[in-house]
Amino acid sequence: MGPALPQLPFGFGDLEPAMSRDTLSFHFARHHLDHFARSCALAQRAGLGQLALDELVLAAGRTPRLRTLYRHASEAWNHACFWRSMRAGGGGTARGAVGDILRRRFGTHERFVRRFHGAAATVFGNGWLWLTWKGDRMRIVATTAGDTPLTRGHLVLLAVDLWEHAYYLDHQNRRGAFLRTFLGELVDWDGANRILESHGAGAR
Ligand SMILES: [Fe+2]
Repeated sequence: MGPALPQLPFGFGDLEPAMSRDTLSFHFARHHLDHFARSCALAQRAGLGQLALDELVLAAGRTPRLRTLYRHASEAWNHACFWRSMRAGGGGTARGAVGDILRRRFGTHERFVRRFHGAAATVFGNGWLWLTWKGDRMRIVATTAGDTPLTRGHLVLLAVDLWEHAYYLDHQNRRGAFLRTFLGELVDWDGANRILESHGAGAR
């Protein structure tokens, strides 16, 4: 079967003005699809071409000689998480079960926002910021370069791409401004709730 061809859940211009058409189209076509194509080529060469993308990330992550394949496959997987973390007209205070758990875990939505920004600031250079569920607990996770929390058993509720290509055209080097826009205008809390619910997590 092999990895499914990446799809954007919205059109290139649908997130404007929060995320420009240029940012989204370059990001998807030149970064995500490039990682996907390289993953597929390397997976074929390694005899792993039949695996789905998450299976490929896990298999390559366990195998030191497949480090390059792991990096490309995890980047492809991470980008799919990022797209489904956003929607047109998104943003605002966390709601539903995710919002309830988030407020129990961090105190208030505003305290969560401060912790989220603080975690993003710890990523030196390229990386990712995540809201995950693992071990009956909601967690803020930061990873560097193309690493992913998938290999450590986290359920990803939200992903934010912190590579500079994710925001440079819209915000130049201001990562904080990008993250404020993500939380204020883009984040899809309903999507995060659907993931939590579909995995039966958060109810315990
Ligand atoms: Fe990216």
